Amino acid sequence: AIDIAKLRGQSGLITIDPGFKNTGSTTSSITFLDGEQGILRYRGYRIEDLAEKSSFLEVAYLLIYGHLPTQSEYQKFTREITTHTLVHEDIKKILDGFPSNSHPMGVLSSLICSLTAFYPESLDPTRNEDAVNLSIIRLLAKMPTFAAWAYKNEVGHPVNYPDNSLDYCSNFLKMMFALPAEGYDVDPVVAKALDQLLILHADHEQNCSTSTVRIVGSSQASIYASISAGINALWGPLHGGANQAVIEMLEAIKADGGDTKKFLNKAKDKEDPFRLMGFGHRVYKNFDPRAKIIKKAADDVLAKLGVDDPVLDIAKELEHAALNDQYFVDRKLYPNVDFYSGIIYRALGIPTDMFTVLFAMGRLPGWIAQWKEMRENGEPIGRPRQIYTGETERDYVSMNKRG
Ligand code: ACO
Repeated sequence: AIDIAKLRGQSGLITIDPGFKNTGSTTSSITFLDGEQGILRYRGYRIEDLAEKSSFLEVAYLLIYGHLPTQSEYQKFTREITTHTLVHEDIKKILDGFPSNSHPMGVLSSLICSLTAFYPESLDPTRNEDAVNLSIIRLLAKMPTFAAWAYKNEVGHPVNYPDNSLDYCSNFLKMMFALPAEGYDVDPVVAKALDQLLILHADHEQNCSTSTVRIVGSSQASIYASISAGINALWGPLHGGANQAVIEMLEAIKADGGDTKKFLNKAKDKEDPFRLMGFGHRVYKNFDPRAKIIKKAADDVLAKLGVDDPVLDIAKELEHAALNDQYFVDRKLYPNVDFYSGIIYRALGIPTDMFTVLFAMGRLPGWIAQWKEMRENGEPIGRPRQIYTGETERDYVSMNKRG
């Protein structure tokens, strides 16, 4: 509760909106989202069409530059990205400094931030467009290398170098899974499914991590520092970390005997901190259109790979029970994108604590596009106000008189 008496001496009218539930921080022409109708469009293109017909790098180009690339634009873009997939050898020394078992999200954000040291020109806020574009290409190119290396560090294996003859996702999968002296053939079903997941995660307007990227960037910090901050914001279980939390929850339900009703009741109990992970969304109050696409993709991928995952049955049972429960209906709590994405990642052989890293890989073009738009709009530094509720003026008492 706000104590009006404590507001004495504060001037001006300040709106208070914790969590920015109804506060617009910017205008944007990148992503359209209608939470009531369950509509999501990137630059005007329906997410359903992009997920079915496009590729991740094409969507990345669309988000960052505002239009679908022509053939020659696309060739140039992908060629530039492949040229920059290698990272400076000294970055391996930074990687070696992390204990194995380090969560790959922490490693990823650190490696991305280290690019400020290897490319210090990114610290200059007055850089021209070509220089900014080079940073953008470097980010897109090096992200899969860093992501795969963060995993290799975790499991204590030597890193693999990029294979530029492969497409974006196949190259990542090979860097992640290939072992020394053993060949690794990328399964095209796995690469395609991963590409589609990355498209679905590519942007989502002013969510927690994207707002973080924009607000850090608004101080004219380097693009690498801004994206690194976004990765850290994504890490939390209420945001991108939910995909890991969903699988852990489904496994816990299975280990407990599979009683979904019991966990549904726990989620409804206000005394119990447990929440149904993968349910609810700040903006979608109808359904998450990405969850619809992913649910179908999960069925397809599991069938194609011949995987029979009992956790998927628990997920479907839980979804059915929640959709028919008055608590969830009243609060418009529907499965979000992360409810099913973890199941696909698992079927693709991705370890659980890499799920959020893949979310970061998918969200990268969105963060870049939003950072670029913020810069081109010449937006002022982000600096919210507050309403002070602490002590009013007090006299200082020296320590020996405090008892
Ligand atoms: N399980 C049980 N109850 C829930 C859940 C849930 N997953 N989500 C919301 N509620 C309840 C709240 O307790 C609250 O109930 P009340 O009105 O009786 O107090 C009501 O629904 C509204 O919830 P808020 O927390 O106010 O909604 P908010 O918009 O702030 O939070 C959020 C949205 C963080 C996504 C929330 O629904 C949640 O914690 N979900 C689980 C985590 C998750 O899946 N996150 C991924 C989000 S999508 C993404 O980042 C890609």
